[in-house]
Amino acid sequence: MVTMVVNGVRRDIQAPTDSPLLYVLRNDLELSGPQFGCGLAQCGACSVLLDGKEIRSCTTPLSAAVGKEVTTLEGLPARWAQQKGLSKADAEKTLHPVQEAWIEEQTPLCGFCQNGMMIKATELLERVASPSVAEIKAAFTTSGPSAHLCRCGSYTAIIEAVQRAATTMAKGR
Ligand code: FES
Ligand code: FES
Repeated sequence: MVTMVVNGVRRDIQAPTDSPLLYVLRNDLELSGPQFGCGLAQCGACSVLLDGKEIRSCTTPLSAAVGKEVTTLEGLPARWAQQKGLSKADAEKTLHPVQEAWIEEQTPLCGFCQNGMMIKATELLERVASPSVAEIKAAFTTSGPSAHLCRCGSYTAIIEAVQRAATTMAKGR
């Protein structure tokens, strides 16, 4: 058995430590945010934050997450609530500004890639408060093992949503 913190909660996992983290999150912990796209670290659909850094959970073994903090799409509201110091009651009514921006900009088309897009956006905005368009493009294309791919072509809407989220986060900090 191994232990890791997932979305702020300590979880004891009984699975082989060479299991892909994605399988553990989806099958053992029933977290359906991260998606199985390519399974080869080539698309970003499966992305999660590991100690705040975006990783591809399809090719990351469970052993790499032992003793660390994993944040999935489901954990973004609580992550933001903690950063803002919200009460537990307020936290339960809160979405992460990235999620709000994605809704307001109506960013998803089929939606399959959008888990990874929001995870990458969160990682970027925690590091760079007001990224330029060039910095946003670089984050989504060169700051991981591969570019985040959207077969529906939602890239323009993603850039606009990141900028909207940056504005909201700047006000909330
Ligand atoms: S499913 Fe993990 S990068 Fe594509
Ligand atoms: S919205 Fe369909 S793959 Fe990105």
